[in-house]
Amino acid sequence: MTAFDATTIDSTRPRIGILTAGGDCPGLNAVIRGVVKSAYRMGYETLGFEGGFEGLVDPIRCRSLTPQNTSGILTLGGTILGSTNRGRFGVTVGEDLKLSLPEPMIEAVRQTFQKTQLQGLICVGGDGSLSIALELHRAGLPVVGVPKTIDNDLSCTAFTFGFDSAVNCATDALDRLHTTASSHDRVMVLEVMGRHAGWIALHAGIAGGGDVILIPEIPWSYEGIIAKIDDRRRMGKNFTLVVVAEGAELPSGAVVARESVQTDRQTLLGGIGNEISQQLNKRIEQEVRYVVLGHLQRGGGPTNFDRVLATQLGVHAVRLVVQKRFGEMVCYQPPQIDSVTIAEAVGELRRVPPDSSAVAAARAMGISFGDTLDYINPFLPE
Ligand code: F6P
Repeated sequence: MTAFDATTIDSTRPRIGILTAGGDCPGLNAVIRGVVKSAYRMGYETLGFEGGFEGLVDPIRCRSLTPQNTSGILTLGGTILGSTNRGRFGVTVGEDLKLSLPEPMIEAVRQTFQKTQLQGLICVGGDGSLSIALELHRAGLPVVGVPKTIDNDLSCTAFTFGFDSAVNCATDALDRLHTTASSHDRVMVLEVMGRHAGWIALHAGIAGGGDVILIPEIPWSYEGIIAKIDDRRRMGKNFTLVVVAEGAELPSGAVVARESVQTDRQTLLGGIGNEISQQLNKRIEQEVRYVVLGHLQRGGGPTNFDRVLATQLGVHAVRLVVQKRFGEMVCYQPPQIDSVTIAEAVGELRRVPPDSSAVAAARAMGISFGDTLDYINPFLPE
């Protein structure tokens, strides 16, 4: 822990703050490096706040970040500043709860801005953390946002950094499951993260040659999955790979959660892979096993794509601060990095459109979504 010490701060340069909040993901350090290096070249000092928004208040925890002390972090997973999705700012948004920060908390943050003489604060986070940033902006504090999450569920940006790295990890898992599933004639169920959006399952399912993809956006049934397993057996394929998003709803409409909703947190999803494998084991002769990929998807270094995206987002976030475009969030609208208001970005979760080109392409190739549309080729005239 680095307690705030005004004497360690370079008083000759105007100051930009940065914090990383919410669940970590690959690419956070690449953003930090992009911010520090580009800010330094524009004459600014960067102060890194530790432990997400927690570092902003009593006790203030921050340290000066320089091109020297952030050298070599481009490829490093996690975040050198630490992060939390719990604590005093741990009020979440999204499917469960709406955010509201108590006034004394906002006042404490305001005092920290004054004490550290921040010209602007870059908040790197997902929808929960960016909603906190929005509250601070509405209270008159100069903040800008950088979208981060492996879930890829933020509006107004084609991709969040961290997503590609998570998909890479899930695809690698599918490649490995492929060989063992085919050796043992098994059905293997892979549960991946993504909260209430199916992006990771969809992209990994396509990239890893999955046979069945189950996502929250498309209702499915056990009969649908079994129809695909039977189809494959008829074609001489005695193994099947099922990829399921943790937030996919069971045919009953329920989601499977590790813990029930708590007052300060969203539902902790998880367990659907186990549930599906138990149900399939009751219904078919073939052996069914499951794997939960869990936090492996969040760990490790960023892919090349995420390194490039995260670096650009960091640099353009500094530009927003310098141009005093507070209340905005950098976003990726290929091929450009652009910006939108944070309010637009956190208004609604971005989920997989069931009629998207990726879903249609998967269906056209015979990938099953466990629903009744499986045998309809979306590209043939009705
Ligand atoms: O939002 C990122 C994410 O990894 C989700 O995919 C997952 O549901 C959640 O965070 C897990 O949170 P925690 O690390 O607190 O268990």
